[in-house]
Amino acid sequence: MSRLALVPRPSSASLSATARLSQIRGFLSSSIRMDAVLESSEDKIRVLSRRQYEASGTLTPLTVLPSPLDEFRRWFIEAQSHVREPEIMSVSTATAAGIPSSRFVLLKEVDSRGFVFFTNYNSRKSRELDENPHAALALYWPEMHRQVRVVGRVERLTKAESEEYYRTRPLGSRIGAWASPQSSVVEEGELSKRFNEVKDMFAVKEDQLEADIPLPDFWGGWRVIPFEVEFWAGKPSRLHDRVRYTRELDSDAEWKIERIAP
Ligand SMILES: Cc1cc2nc3c(=O)[nH]c(=O)nc-3n(C[C@H](O)[C@H](O)[C@H](O)COP(=O)(O)O)c2cc1C
Repeated sequence: MSRLALVPRPSSASLSATARLSQIRGFLSSSIRMDAVLESSEDKIRVLSRRQYEASGTLTPLTVLPSPLDEFRRWFIEAQSHVREPEIMSVSTATAAGIPSSRFVLLKEVDSRGFVFFTNYNSRKSRELDENPHAALALYWPEMHRQVRVVGRVERLTKAESEEYYRTRPLGSRIGAWASPQSSVVEEGELSKRFNEVKDMFAVKEDQLEADIPLPDFWGGWRVIPFEVEFWAGKPSRLHDRVRYTRELDSDAEWKIERIAP
């Protein structure tokens, strides 16, 4: 399978919304609900609105490709035309003691080996991945009523692979990677001070548009090598379609493909 590399897109227009306590009118696209009705009291918010899910197409073990990475590629390419930022995914990690934590990151590459995102190797997520080298990913594409979930073992990308991606980042993001001690407590103003120090360290002038900033050795990619991948398509009456692929960790065997109950 060829590699799917995700290149930067123009920043999306910011969302606008007017909100009242009892009713929020939001918009994302015409295909999703226009009114989210809330019942709100002093100590509780109850979401009353209900959404019907109706993904197009059929999802069964017979309609999917033998490899979940190929199936994902098919879904992801389709999502590019329907979803604002389909590359946003949650990454869940856990400490050795099993305490979980989740956050969103950007999916940057997918190939037959797995799913890649980039981050600071000293961050909370990276420390947890060092302790417990497993992660769970989830992507939700509301405009398509689709969800994808992944569970796998993780490995760090090689320095050369991380460098290849790092070089494509805008100058500010490359400086930012050096400047931010991700997940650490910082003082007010410390980040901009550090940002300027990094610029000085690499002799970047105020209006300079490009500079050769090396990859920090505390920054790079993680690859999630799946042993379980689930494709979910929303259907009426909550009778959603779910197809799950599983196989032994690090095996080259064929994937077992099953339908599971919603
Ligand atoms: C849409 C979105 C995309 C993000 N993408 C990334 C990313 O690709 N890499 C990253 O390190 N943090 C990304 N973040 C920030 C993370 O959510 C998180 O705040 C940060 O990585 C620190 O997490 P940690 O302290 O659990 O390690 C993103 C946040 C959002 C909301």
